[in-house]
Amino acid sequence: MSLNLNRRHFVLGSAAVLAQMGISNPLTAQPAKLTVPTVDSLTIRVITDSSYDTPRAGGNKWVKVSRVGYFSRQDYRKALHNEWGLSLALDSKIGNDTRHIMLDFGYTPNALLNNMELLGIDGAKMQALIMSHGHFDHYGGLIGYLEKFRAKLPSDLALYAGGEDNFCNCKTASGTPGHFSDWGVIARRDLEKHRVRVVPCEKPTVVSGHAFTTGTIARRSFERVLPNTQVEYFKTNGVGCDMPEANAKAGGKLVADQQIHEHGTCFNLKDRGLVVISSCGHAGIINTARQAMEVSGVKKVHAALGGFHLFPATDDYLRTTVEAMQKLDPDVIVPMHCSGLGLIAILRSEVSDKVVTSTTGTEFVFGA
Ligand SMILES: [Fe+2]
Repeated sequence: MSLNLNRRHFVLGSAAVLAQMGISNPLTAQPAKLTVPTVDSLTIRVITDSSYDTPRAGGNKWVKVSRVGYFSRQDYRKALHNEWGLSLALDSKIGNDTRHIMLDFGYTPNALLNNMELLGIDGAKMQALIMSHGHFDHYGGLIGYLEKFRAKLPSDLALYAGGEDNFCNCKTASGTPGHFSDWGVIARRDLEKHRVRVVPCEKPTVVSGHAFTTGTIARRSFERVLPNTQVEYFKTNGVGCDMPEANAKAGGKLVADQQIHEHGTCFNLKDRGLVVISSCGHAGIINTARQAMEVSGVKKVHAALGGFHLFPATDDYLRTTVEAMQKLDPDVIVPMHCSGLGLIAILRSEVSDKVVTSTTGTEFVFGA
C-alpha cells in the first residue's frame, strides 16, 4: 500500500473507495428493519478508557453521571489502569428483568480485569458479549476475560461480531510516517476453545432481548474512514478473515481498512429515544446514528456515546461533524476514547448543554 493511495483514501468517502476497488458494496445497501425492544433504563460503566478524572457528580437532566475513586478502598496500592482502548459494561432493565452485556474488552486483560475488580463489575454475570470491530484496542482483553470467567458464564455464550472482516489480520500506523506495524488478529480457534459462539451481525440483531446492533453501517454522509489502519482479506497460518471477493479486488495485498463490518450497539430507551454507542466510530457517528434510526424506525436519538474516531480529523471536518450532530439533535453527547480533544473543545463551545465527558470508571445512568 503506497502512501499516495492512503492519501487518496483519506479524501474519498468509504463507499467511493470500495466502489473504486470494485468490491460489491454493503455500505450503501438499504438497511434491514428490526423490531427493537424498549428498555426502561440503561447503566453504562466505563471499564477501560484512556484517562481518569477526579470524582465529581455531574451530568444533565437526562443522565446521571458519577465517578468512582481511582484506588481500591481495600488496598490503596491498587488503582484503575488507563490505556488506549475501550470496554463498557451495559446493564439494562425492563421491569424487574435486568440484562448484563459487555461491549468490547480494551487493550490488555491486565487493565480490564484490574478495573473490573475495582469497579465491582462481576464478569461472571455477563449474558452476552459484543465486539464492535476487529481492532486490538477493543478485543485485546477478551481472551484473558474468558480465561478468568468462562466457566461461570452461560454455556451458550455468544459473541456478537459485526461480520467476517472483524477477524482480518490488520496493521496500524506505527508513528513513523508511511510505516505500519502488525496489530494482531482475533483468532476464531481461540474463541472455539472457550466455547464461544460467534454471531455475525451484518444485519441488525437483537442482543439478549434488550439491546440491538445496527448491522453493517451504510455510508451515506460526508463521513469517511479516517487513517490509519490496513487490512488483509485472507488467512495467514490459518488465522484471519476469509473474504475471497474483497481479496481478489485488493489483488491479494494489504489495503486501507474500510471497517466494512463495524457495527454500533444501541438501546431504545422508553419515552426518550435511542442510545447509540459507536465504540470506535470508524464508520462515522452520524452514519451510525442514522443507521440505528433507520433499522429501528425510532426517529429520535436520545444519546450518542462512544469513540467517534475524530482525533485525526482537521478542524473543518470536526466542525462539519458538529454541525451534523446539531441537526441530529441528541439530548446527550458523550465523546469517549478516540474522539479527540479537538472535538471536545468544539462541542463545549457549540453544544455545551449536551456534552458530557467520560473517563475510566465513569458511570452513566439513563432513564432511571
Ligand atoms: Fe479504538
